[in-house]
Amino acid sequence: MSHPVILGVGYAVPDNKVSNDDLSKVIDTNDEWITERTGIKTRYISKDENTSDLAVRAALKAIDDAHIDPKVIDCIIVATLTPDAMMPCTAALVQAKLNLSHQRMMVFDLNGACSGFLLALQTVDALIQSAQVTTALIIGSETLSKILDYTDRGTAVLFGDGAGAFLVSSSSNAHPWTHFVNTQGDLEDTLSTDGLSLNASLKNIQGETPYLRMKGQAVFRFAIRAVEDAIRQVILKSNLSLDEIDLIIPHQANARILGHVADKMNFPLSKFVMNMDEFGNTSSASIPIAFAQAKAKGLIHKDMHVLLVGFGAGLIWASSLIEL
Ligand code: ACO
Repeated sequence: MSHPVILGVGYAVPDNKVSNDDLSKVIDTNDEWITERTGIKTRYISKDENTSDLAVRAALKAIDDAHIDPKVIDCIIVATLTPDAMMPCTAALVQAKLNLSHQRMMVFDLNGACSGFLLALQTVDALIQSAQVTTALIIGSETLSKILDYTDRGTAVLFGDGAGAFLVSSSSNAHPWTHFVNTQGDLEDTLSTDGLSLNASLKNIQGETPYLRMKGQAVFRFAIRAVEDAIRQVILKSNLSLDEIDLIIPHQANARILGHVADKMNFPLSKFVMNMDEFGNTSSASIPIAFAQAKAKGLIHKDMHVLLVGFGAGLIWASSLIEL
């Protein structure tokens, strides 16, 4: 049976880098509070690039890294909670912007919030194993600044814009990947935005906003449980031990969450890749950005066991264990 292999990775962020000090000029906050509570120092905020634009730039880097002809791509999935529009899906816009519109392809968006990239990765694995797809672009891309309320200092300082991409191909020699995912839907109000109202055009809707809302401490408690659970469950399924994991690439929400998990699991924090200091929380883009940056820094090598772990709105938590 064929399994996926990662041929190339890439990431892209907007030019506009915003520091905690910059934010403190427009919000009642300060560098010390943000750094101590989250580990975040800067984030990138888009001025003119939408989610599909960042996705395309990350995709082009992944294609370049893979050294393949993009004409072999037969699937594009964009994981995002901030699409350019309700329709068409961002993945179709990416196909067009990559000049791949005239080749047979399955494209769609997937919204699993901060676990979205792993849900897309797990979907592509299944599509490759069932021989529906041979070469896929899996992209996590967000312009979260579109849904941030800059009067809410509890959320506005946490998030950033960016995109990361994997170019994945079917191979008969690849090591199988192991996955885990779980959801607790009745905690949906912990992390959410308003949607569109039924019959909105007939009513004068007051008080609805597009903004992200979060119960920070509830999410913090959930995240500590979820990250540990996702790590333990995927290791259990893989028949490996925790010691055999070379690197954990987690969703980049908060350095303190990862510190708690590392302590509790007695696992070295140095094996967690962390870059939220530079990028903030980029939701579905955070894991592929962290992976691509770690690869560029020479931290990722063949035959390593790399564990990816995500958690976020839904509430959904997920993990994938990849042997490179
Ligand atoms: N700057 C300065 N002060 C602030 C800020 C800010 N940006 N935000 C809140 N405060 C103040 C509050 O008003 C409060 O003041 P008070 O004591 O006078 O009332 C005080 O700081 C403490 O506020 P808390 O909300 O209790 O702060 P907490 O220690 O819980 O930290 C945080 C908040 C960082 C959001 C934390 O709860 C957290 O990290 N939660 C997890 C969030 C997360 O990871 N979300 C993303 C995961 S899912 C996804 O990625 C979509």
